[in-house]
Amino acid sequence: MICLKEKHKNFFSSLCLFIALCVSSTVSAFEAKIVGGTEAADHKYPFMVSVEYQVDNTQICSASLITEKKILTAAHCITDDNGRIIKDKIQVRLGTNVLNDGSGTVLNVKTISRHPLYNPYTLDYDVAILTLKTPVTLDDNINVINLPKACQSIHCLTGLVTPNTSVRAIGWGVTSVDGEGSDVLLQVDMPLISNIDCQTTNTNEITDRMICADGTHQNPVGDTCQGDSGGPLFAYIEAARAGLQTGIVSFGEDCATHPGVYTRISDPSIRGFIVKYAGI
Ligand code: ARG
Repeated sequence: MICLKEKHKNFFSSLCLFIALCVSSTVSAFEAKIVGGTEAADHKYPFMVSVEYQVDNTQICSASLITEKKILTAAHCITDDNGRIIKDKIQVRLGTNVLNDGSGTVLNVKTISRHPLYNPYTLDYDVAILTLKTPVTLDDNINVINLPKACQSIHCLTGLVTPNTSVRAIGWGVTSVDGEGSDVLLQVDMPLISNIDCQTTNTNEITDRMICADGTHQNPVGDTCQGDSGGPLFAYIEAARAGLQTGIVSFGEDCATHPGVYTRISDPSIRGFIVKYAGI
């Protein structure tokens, strides 16, 4: 930084130092979120859901609200080590960006439906739907995300799966492979890539039920990570203040070193499951 004018050397050098300190503290405040993301504005994503064990409020996963009674998440979030649907009582928390401070609306889950073809080894068909005991009242703080079928034009449908389209992921997961989770909701944008490109960098099979986003070429590198599972990958339409969901956080090799893998919402068998269990 060149800002030392001879005449005012002392004044300018302390000003420089002051600016440099401000800049560096601003930078560190925005560093290392999700992986490579930033804090989400309060109530910006009213469809975001935290899935938790009822006994101690610990978070299992994230999810998205798709109707006033139905919540979309990943099948692996609600599957135990033996491949069965978990028996523990599950609750969901809506309408808050912050975990662990008791904020938000907590509701009980009545039933869990999992895709019949879900494979816990390959994570194929990684989708599940939670049905709330009682419907939630939709307002500015709690509201639904749009699914591709609500998208009228073919352009916006294809835009949602076209490589290079920028999509957003949000979550409370860890900010690096051996980092810690975040109590405040974090967001990161990344471009979609083709399944062919995704397969070349992933050792697991990338099936038609999957879609990948690759934030490994950006600065800082971006990705979802452990604890972000079940949450939405979506296009955010700023003007409408609405999201259009394209994926569900599913898996990845490490974090931000390989593309992240998401359940492909627009795949006919994923779409069919949603229609059958959520009616939309
Ligand atoms: N399976 C992880 C979870 O349960 C999500 C991992 C996403 N990983 C990634 N590198 N994109 O939270």
